Amino acid sequence: MNSAGEKTENNNFPVSVAIAGAGTMGHGLALVMARAGHRVMLLDTDRQILEKALGQIRGHLEMLRKEGLENRPVKEISDRIQISTEKQALADMDLIIESISEDPAVKAAFYKQVGDICRPDAVIASNTSYLNIFDLAPFDIQKRLLISHFYAPPYLIPLVELVKGPETSTDSVEWIKQLLFRAGQQPVVIEKFIPGFIVNRLQRAMGREIFHLIDGGYATPEEIDRAVLNSLGIRLPVLGAVRRYDFGGLDFAQKVLSNPSIGLVSEDRPSSALDDLVSRGHLGVKTGRGFYDYNGQDLAEIHAKRDRLLIRMRALMQEIQDTF
Ligand SMILES: NC(=O)c1ccc[n+]([C@@H]2O[C@H](COP(=O)([O-])OP(=O)(O)OC[C@H]3O[C@@H](n4cnc5c(N)ncnc54)[C@H](O)[C@@H]3O)[C@@H](O)[C@H]2O)c1
Repeated sequence: MNSAGEKTENNNFPVSVAIAGAGTMGHGLALVMARAGHRVMLLDTDRQILEKALGQIRGHLEMLRKEGLENRPVKEISDRIQISTEKQALADMDLIIESISEDPAVKAAFYKQVGDICRPDAVIASNTSYLNIFDLAPFDIQKRLLISHFYAPPYLIPLVELVKGPETSTDSVEWIKQLLFRAGQQPVVIEKFIPGFIVNRLQRAMGREIFHLIDGGYATPEEIDRAVLNSLGIRLPVLGAVRRYDFGGLDFAQKVLSNPSIGLVSEDRPSSALDDLVSRGHLGVKTGRGFYDYNGQDLAEIHAKRDRLLIRMRALMQEIQDTF
């Protein structure tokens, strides 16, 4: 860092990383950082959640070892993680990743405290899914504040959307980008805040069409999934969302864009299919039933099967990205 409290090109890894919030995402982020060799402080207001998080982390490490993605002993990695309910634990950290509840008032209060406690050169990154945290945080931390949006589970899904605020320094972005690359993640930089960033915007647009097709009785959930898995499911991982236009021909893409007959859903609408399932308590895998029926199946085994397939896809993605 230089005298103005900014990160410089001379990156000295590993560093100390605080993860605030040990819930669904936070415990996975602690795991990613500990696997990369960093000293991790996992913070939550609830001690029971912290204890549970440590158990989950050990469980994920066992799974990664079983799948051949990790060969170091679980203890060697989990010993790098300390837990605390005291904000003061943030005081000497190089990086603070905020992954607390998605509530603007809770986040605003946290940034105010962090600004008072942490080192003047600490980089502060938020895992928010939708909030414009740059409107919530005090001015004095804005230079080293950015969004780092991970995907679940972060130890299997590499993408991290790094979103710059109006004041974020290039050095802070470059520093965390290098840190994430070295941790095995794939950071992608977004120059300015837009709700949903890249991937959740695309997912949301697709969701509108999916529920329109189901609610309108055009196709069943099973047929939609079969259609997608056997087309986009194969093509998207190879060509991405943009390169595929080059392969299809840009003149053709231009014709498609200028043909209004498709009449896409242009707004968010409630879905009767979704409302019906939720009202009956069918919330997906966690309740044994969603669009599909999982009753009688071991839920842990369903998740383990998904994870095994994600691991194989992840390896293939690496090969594909090295090809183009
Ligand atoms: N769940 C996902 O799939 C997902 C994916 C990407 C990003 N996110 C984002 O990550 C963040 C966390 O989401 P989650 O799903 O892990 O939530 P969660 O509810 O599972 O966990 C949040 C944790 O934050 C703790 N907490 C609340 N206030 C705190 C404070 N002031 N200091 C320390 N800890 C505090 C809570 O006790 C809780 O354990 C949110 O901003 C969310 O939008 C979630």
